[in-house]
Amino acid sequence: MSTPPRLIVATRNRHKTAEIRALVGEAFEVLDATCFPDFPEVEETGTTFLENATLKAEAISRVAAGWVLADDSGLEVDALDGRPGVWSSSFGGVEGDHPRNNARLIGEMAGADNRRARFRCTMVLARDGRAVADFSGSVEGTITTEPAGCRGFGYDPLFVPDGYELTFAELGEAVKNTMSHRARALEKALAWLAEQ
Ligand code: IMP
Repeated sequence: MSTPPRLIVATRNRHKTAEIRALVGEAFEVLDATCFPDFPEVEETGTTFLENATLKAEAISRVAAGWVLADDSGLEVDALDGRPGVWSSSFGGVEGDHPRNNARLIGEMAGADNRRARFRCTMVLARDGRAVADFSGSVEGTITTEPAGCRGFGYDPLFVPDGYELTFAELGEAVKNTMSHRARALEKALAWLAEQ
């Protein structure tokens, strides 16, 4: 039996990797930056998802052979004029501190009637240090008034996708993967890779 080619995901977020691995199935062996302690830390200095995903994909692809996939994603809330957007992971003041991010979101949304929001994801594929293709996906929903559910990560406990009454954190990965921003972007990326 031949081994599948490697797809390196330019992230240390194990939740992102798990979602991507479940969607990729047997087509690729999915590894991420946690498998390579020497990979550089990439500063996300861009102002768009595309810029940040490109920075991550190209930086890792300079030091890793084969396809590198980077995901940059975030939550856009209408009542906050699209914030936190690209700054979703540090909205509460501490990078990657999801409980703080969620607390700030709940605080800023207190009393807001318009609770519409969407997750967006842009994925970039790079090889030999250069970005070669990008793909985007989004999922619409609403923001709850308090967290619910213990699965997933980030704003999952506060986000109810359209057509459901439970948050992503209550629905869990299998349901989330049928409709998420990440799943939708990845579906396009995998279709593109299949043609290479
Ligand atoms: P990134 O790692 O720079 O792309 O930051 C993504 C941030 O956006 C995360 O830290 C979360 O705050 C938020 N985010 C992106 N995708 C999701 C998701 O699927 N569920 C919940 N939060 C997400």
